[in-house]
Amino acid sequence: MKLIYAKDYDSMSAIAATLIANEVYTNPTCVLGLATGSTPVGTYKELIRMHKNNDLDFSKVNTVNLDEYKGLTKDNDQSYAYFMYENLFKHVNIDMEKTNIPNGLNEDIEDECNRYEAVIDSLGGVDIQLLGIGQNGHIGFNEPDKVFVSKTHAIELTQNTIEANARFFNSIDEVPTVAYTMGNRQIMNAKTVVLVANGANKAQAIYDLVAGDANPMSPASILQFHQNAYIICDEAALSLVAQKAPELLK
Ligand code: PGA
Repeated sequence: MKLIYAKDYDSMSAIAATLIANEVYTNPTCVLGLATGSTPVGTYKELIRMHKNNDLDFSKVNTVNLDEYKGLTKDNDQSYAYFMYENLFKHVNIDMEKTNIPNGLNEDIEDECNRYEAVIDSLGGVDIQLLGIGQNGHIGFNEPDKVFVSKTHAIELTQNTIEANARFFNSIDEVPTVAYTMGNRQIMNAKTVVLVANGANKAQAIYDLVAGDANPMSPASILQFHQNAYIICDEAALSLVAQKAPELLK
């Protein structure tokens, strides 16, 4: 695991986008694992800029997203399908047929989880996985739990996550309470992981990830076992590490 200091949000986004773009340049048919939330928006903006200015070519790339709310249609402006279209896909030359997101409308949980797991396996797994991190340490919607859940699954969102995501909805009552998420197997099998975090509200989660014990109550801490994970943080997200474990920043 490599902890990387970025001076601010733009610099964090530029570093993450460079790692992803390098993968696309060297392996044009790669499988990109993608994330939603406010943190990766800058990374997508930078990738769009590289597409427009440097001919970064997405035409042969496959994508798999981490998660999707259960019950939202693709055209619901809070669905992750909608987010991906608005924040990346419609701005680059991606083949929409090569993009994959859990189907939030599939009522049959077992069927959807098996289908999505098989999609990722059929692509040969993820080459580079972009991740945000929840204030509670979640990656994708792998919430704090007694165990690290391996496979794609449906999960009841914690109150902390519902409250954190309520800012995107008209009211907290509209936030879905269940989501489909890729499990830890596909995330840990990704050849490279790029986690981005900014802001003081992520400082505890980043401290637990890099300095705590690997523990499913801090879901991102499983990345301590990943051989090629880049944890890219701005100063505020690193503030607790700087205070309590400064040796990790050297
Ligand atoms: P955020 O979400 O980027 O909107 O803070 C991150 C996450 O919950 O994974």
